[in-house]
Amino acid sequence: MKSILVTGGCGYIGSQTIIEILKSTDYQVISIDNYVNSSEQTLHRIKEITGKSIKNHCIDLCNLETLRDFFKTHNSIVGVIHFAALKSVPQSVNDPIRYYKNNLESLLNIIKCSEENNVENFIFSSSCSVYGDVSSLPVTEETSLSPTLSPYAHTKLIAEQMIMFISEKSKMNFVLLRYFNPVGADPSGLIGELPSDIPNNLVPVICQTAAGERAKMYVFGNTYPTRDGSCIRDYVHVVDIALAHVASLNFLVQKKNKEKYSLFNLGSGDGVSVLEAIQTFEKVSGVKVNYEIVPKREGDVAAIYSDSTKAK
Ligand code: WQD
Repeated sequence: MKSILVTGGCGYIGSQTIIEILKSTDYQVISIDNYVNSSEQTLHRIKEITGKSIKNHCIDLCNLETLRDFFKTHNSIVGVIHFAALKSVPQSVNDPIRYYKNNLESLLNIIKCSEENNVENFIFSSSCSVYGDVSSLPVTEETSLSPTLSPYAHTKLIAEQMIMFISEKSKMNFVLLRYFNPVGADPSGLIGELPSDIPNNLVPVICQTAAGERAKMYVFGNTYPTRDGSCIRDYVHVVDIALAHVASLNFLVQKKNKEKYSLFNLGSGDGVSVLEAIQTFEKVSGVKVNYEIVPKREGDVAAIYSDSTKAK
């Protein structure tokens, strides 16, 4: 039975991707996740939604020997989708060495083990934050990169550049997916964005404020050079992101890739401001969101949104 290995399979995008793989392919799915920002509970929710049981192996990808042992007993893996990484921008600013070590060592180990075990296809979870503070919008895959603004974003940029060089000599074919801002939840509502730590992303903060878990939320700045002064981002539904991973898997398995290394933006192709997001949430939910405008957050770019033609 051909298998797909999903690292970070208990995470927000990893678990949604597992659900879409199980719904639309015959692959077996195996997860590796060390629960640093997720929980085993997600596996039960996947079973509830798909009726299928997924095994997770609680392995730290930075431990090469443990990872090698895992591959010794899993030899039918035809593709790896690598989500597992630390992903908090502010946390990376406060602890850069942890981010460089974790995100880059784990990537090198999973690529090395994949090659040693004749895996043919590798999909890497990258981020629009590699573009830095771009001036030309919308962003395409050819838009030149500006300096990254956080160690988190920098680990994604370095990872992309490592994969570019590795792919030249590797037997594996690679797809890199640059996510814009993933939001939303599975239609069942059983899984969604539920980080272990305090979320700093906009939509979970809006939800927690609307649900009364927070007395109020803060809008980080309304004096940006945008239509209403607040930052513009490209919010894209997590199910669309997951379906793009299934499409990438098919793209590689069916050998449609012309290069050893293919890069795609995953965005909705449209920009929404923070204030528009809040106003829309209030209109759709009928719930007032209590917010206060405060000074800008360090590292935020004024606006970034994608041109998603290539992915389409
Ligand atoms: C969006 C906008 C905030 C919270 C980062 C990473 C990206 C990806 C998603 C991992 C900004 C504003 C937010 C709040 C606010 N990370 N905001 N009040 O920073 O665009 O992207 O997270 O995959 O790679 O770079 O996302 O949701 O944190 O912020 O005003 O309480 O909402 O200032 O303008 P961001 P975000």
